Amino acid sequence: MQTTIQLKNKLSGKNSTLYLIHKKTDLKTIGLSKNEIDYVKKKHTDGDSFVTVNHFTHVSLLQFVEEFADYSESKLLETLRGIGHRVCGVVNVHKFKTLELTSLTDDQSWLLAIAEGCALSNYQFIKYKRDKEVNSLSQIHVVSTQLKKAEIDELNVVCEAVCVARDLVNEPQSTLNAITFANEMKALGKQASFKVEVLNKKQIEALKMGGLLAVNMGSVLPPTFTIMEHKPKKAKNKKPIVLIGKGVVYDTGGLSLKPTANSMDSMKCDMAGGAAVAATMFAIAKANLNVHVIGLVPATDNRPGMNAYAPGDVIKMYDGQTVEMLNADAEGRMLLADALSYAKKYNPELVMDFATLTGAAAAAIGPYGIVCMGTADESTKLNLKLSGNQVHERLVEFPFWDDYAKLLKSDIADMKNIGGPIAGAITAGKFLEKYTDYPWMHFDIAGPAYNNSADSYRPKNGTGVGVRLLFDFLKGISQ
Ligand code: BES
Ligand code: ZN
Ligand code: MN
Repeated sequence: MQTTIQLKNKLSGKNSTLYLIHKKTDLKTIGLSKNEIDYVKKKHTDGDSFVTVNHFTHVSLLQFVEEFADYSESKLLETLRGIGHRVCGVVNVHKFKTLELTSLTDDQSWLLAIAEGCALSNYQFIKYKRDKEVNSLSQIHVVSTQLKKAEIDELNVVCEAVCVARDLVNEPQSTLNAITFANEMKALGKQASFKVEVLNKKQIEALKMGGLLAVNMGSVLPPTFTIMEHKPKKAKNKKPIVLIGKGVVYDTGGLSLKPTANSMDSMKCDMAGGAAVAATMFAIAKANLNVHVIGLVPATDNRPGMNAYAPGDVIKMYDGQTVEMLNADAEGRMLLADALSYAKKYNPELVMDFATLTGAAAAAIGPYGIVCMGTADESTKLNLKLSGNQVHERLVEFPFWDDYAKLLKSDIADMKNIGGPIAGAITAGKFLEKYTDYPWMHFDIAGPAYNNSADSYRPKNGTGVGVRLLFDFLKGISQ
C-alpha cells in the first residue's frame, strides 16, 4: 500500500500532472487549449494560486509559485509538502492511479518535497475495515533530468519508514503487546538487514531491570527489551549513537488510573517513541547510512493488575539507584531510566531518547513541535534544531536548571518519580538525567505523536513523528 515514487525523464502526456508555474507565460508550454489557459488566468487573477483543469482522463494541476522566491528554506519546504498533500487529495477524489510532478524551472529539487508531502498524505490504516476505500493514487512520477535516482530512493525509504512508525502506533494494544512489538522489530531487522536481539522477561529479571519490571507487575503479559544495531563498516562515528524509545504499548496509568474522561482513548500511542526508534533503524539500515547506531526499546503495558506496583513502593532500578514511586502513571521514566543506564555499556558518543512522556509537554506547545532538553553540546543541539526545521519536526528546548532536580527529592529513596505541579516535562527530564553519564538529549513527543485531526500530510492518529528528524540528523553525521 506504500506509495512509490519514481524518477522519469519525460512527461507521459496522459497522466494527471502537477506543474509548477513561475509566470503566466509558462501556461503556453504545457499543452492547454486557449479556453483552458483563459480559465486558468482568470482563476489566478481572482487570487487562486492552485488551479485544477479537468481533462476527464486526467487532470492538470497548476501551482503558481512566484511568491515562493522570498520564503526561507524551511518555510518553502513545508509549503511544498503542503502542496503535495493538496494534490494527493485531488488525485484520489478523481480516482487516478498515477501523478506526475514537473517544474518548468531549474529548481527541480522542489519536486522532492512535493512528492514527500504527497506520499505521506496518501497513508491509510484500513487493515481492520471490511469495506476498504483504498486510495487510488499509488505512483508518483517525479519528472526531472536534474534529480538523481539516489535522491528518490532515499525519499522512498524515509516515507516508508514514517508509515512503518504510524502503523505501529495505530495498531491497538490487543494486537501490539510487548512481545508482538518486539516481533515486529525483528521483522523490520530482517527486511532492512540490521541486527535485532530481544531480551525476554527471564533475561530482564537476570539483569535486574527494576524499573521496567516494576511497571510490568500489573500486567498479565511479559515485558521485552529490544536491542537493535546498525553497524556499517565505514561508519563515520567511532563511538555509537544510541537511540532509546519508550515502548509502553498501553498506558492505563496503572494503580494511579488515568483520572480524566477519555484520557485513555489514545494510550495505544504510548509506544510512539519506540516506534520512531524502530522505524529510524529501518530507514538508516535500508539507506545504508554510514553511521553506527544502536536502538533500545523497553516495552510493556502499564496496568493496575493484581500485583501492580503501588504508590509508596520503593523500586531498585537497573543501576542500583532507588525510586520512591508516588504515581504509577509516571511509568515511562521508570523503564526509560533502565534503558538509559543500560546504554552506558556502549560508551556512546550521544544518546537520544524519544518518549510520549508528559501531558505537560503536550500542554505547553501542543502538536506543533517536540519539547527537548539535555546535556549534549551546543553544536549537537544546533544540528538537531536545524534538522528539526528542515523536516518540520521543530524542536523547542526547555530550561534544564538544577533547581528542577530538587523537586524530585524523596524522604526515603534516592528520588521520587514525580516532581509536583510545576514544570512536569522538565522534572521528567531531570529524573532521566540521573541515569546518564554521557552527552544526552531527551525528546518529549507527547504533543505531536498522535493527532486528533489531520494536519496537512500529518494524518489523524499516529503521525510517525521523530523518524524524519532522526534520519536527517543521522544523515548529517554519516556524511
Ligand atoms: N503517557 C503519558 C503521557 C501522555 C499524555 C502521552 C498525553 C500522550 C498524551 C505518561 O505516561 C503520563 O501519564 N504522564 C503523566 C506524568 C505525571 C503523573 C507526573 C502526566 O503527564 O500526567
Ligand atoms: Zn505513559
Ligand atoms: Mn502514564
